[in-house]
Amino acid sequence: MEFYEVLKKRRSIRKYKKAPVEQDKIDRILEAVRIAPSAANFQPWHFIVIKDESVKLALKEAYGREWFYTAPLIICACGEPAKAWVRRDKRNYVDVDVAIAFEHLVLAAAAEGLGTCWVGAFDPAVVRRVLGLPDGIEPIAMTPIGFPDETPRPLSRKSTAEIVRRDRW
Ligand SMILES: Cc1cc2nc3c(=O)[nH]c(=O)nc-3n(C[C@H](O)[C@H](O)[C@H](O)COP(=O)(O)O)c2cc1C
Repeated sequence: MEFYEVLKKRRSIRKYKKAPVEQDKIDRILEAVRIAPSAANFQPWHFIVIKDESVKLALKEAYGREWFYTAPLIICACGEPAKAWVRRDKRNYVDVDVAIAFEHLVLAAAAEGLGTCWVGAFDPAVVRRVLGLPDGIEPIAMTPIGFPDETPRPLSRKSTAEIVRRDRW
């Protein structure tokens, strides 16, 4: 799919077919994640690919939407703040880095004809426990992945004029 077509076609999918996702698609998606840019190229991230039914079901306690924990696959993106670039004013870029890699994932999945949905509204303590995350590894975003079983209605976006300023605020 042409790049701009992927950008336009990508939507948050909240209904998935039961069909499993082929491993070659998953591999290409993870390669798209791997080559994502990060501040100073520190790559302070880890991605957990979850296929096991019992682990998915346990994640229901972290985020209870059925379309989330019953999807064929869930990926949890984690950040490692201690490995991330820190600006002079002490701002840690781990969330930015993980978000970029995660959006690579989302767009690559869309290019493969797969649906995803960023999930940030989970209980991090439950995710930590269920996935056995060690200290210093933070769950930042999760997504179900599977073949879409819905066509979401169009959503509006702010106009360019509303969000872009020329030269100064
Ligand atoms: C950082 C982030 C967190 C999000 N968390 C959730 C979430 O917890 N649950 C959910 O259903 N959608 C979540 N979304 C999806 C947004 O609601 C969705 O992207 C937005 O409404 C625009 O719709 P679209 O993705 O179909 O274009 C999240 C999106 C982003 C970028």
